[in-house]
Amino acid sequence: MLNIRCLNKIAEAGLAQFPQASYQFTEQAGAEDAILVRSADLKEMDFGAGLKAIARAGAGTNNIPTARCSEAGIVVFNTPGANANAVKELVLAGLLMSSRPVVPAIAWIESLGSAADLAQRVEQEKSRFVGTELKGKTLGVIGLGAIGILVANLAVELDMQVVGYDPYISVDAAWKLSRQVRHAESLEAVLKTADYVTIHVPLTPQTKNLIAASQLKLMKTGAVLLNFARGGLVQEDAVLAALAARQIRGYVTDFPSPALAGKRGVTLIPHLGASTEEAEENCAVMAAQELIDYLENGNIRNA
Ligand code: MLT
Repeated sequence: MLNIRCLNKIAEAGLAQFPQASYQFTEQAGAEDAILVRSADLKEMDFGAGLKAIARAGAGTNNIPTARCSEAGIVVFNTPGANANAVKELVLAGLLMSSRPVVPAIAWIESLGSAADLAQRVEQEKSRFVGTELKGKTLGVIGLGAIGILVANLAVELDMQVVGYDPYISVDAAWKLSRQVRHAESLEAVLKTADYVTIHVPLTPQTKNLIAASQLKLMKTGAVLLNFARGGLVQEDAVLAALAARQIRGYVTDFPSPALAGKRGVTLIPHLGASTEEAEENCAVMAAQELIDYLENGNIRNA
């Protein structure tokens, strides 16, 4: 019997992949053969001697001590692409929230309650909530992996101009991009031309603080930065300074932090990019199947 330990809530469809005859779920630390995890931070965790594999039901593995795992012979899996559509759709919400002030408008109308003069107030005051259209604006997409490609193609459908940058883009990936996505030769070129910049790269020692003061200075005045990838990719003090100086107009991030809370121009989302029923199920099923294939057949995919 093999012991699986779940360190986050994992969708039922994923748990159902493990045949009851040969697997059981345990909560006992140190007794597990494999760990299933979503966003719990394992970096300081002591692993039991019998641990063979960790599967992350998600794309990023920066919550897992991958170097320590590889020294200990523990295989780390992730689920690339399994939640890409969910993230793409939330990026769309981020773009719309940045171009049309629907969130403050809803808060305002709710604050009026059932005032008798509601219709009159709406007519008098709705001019405060005029937005701009995405059509014709330029979206810069940094990172053209599973998510970046979907976002770039979606933006083409929205009649945006799209410029992408990825130093590692493969021929296969390039074929999945709409022909209308221009590939820039540098990050700087994207930052200088885009009205909206969206980041879709993993957080690694090389990409930490990818967007700091010098990059923000290159952005067009009034541009908006969207970060649905990882908080550590953007240097928070620098982004707050760029907002205060009105260098950029907004920062939309799926990675809330105390330093950003309540700051003008910042839209915080509580890490909901992958939080759809479909994505949670896709990630859980893929992670479970990776573990089973490894534990039973020694096959390694997405490690
Ligand atoms: C990811 O890395 O894909 C996300 O962080 C997944 C999640 O939100 O659980």
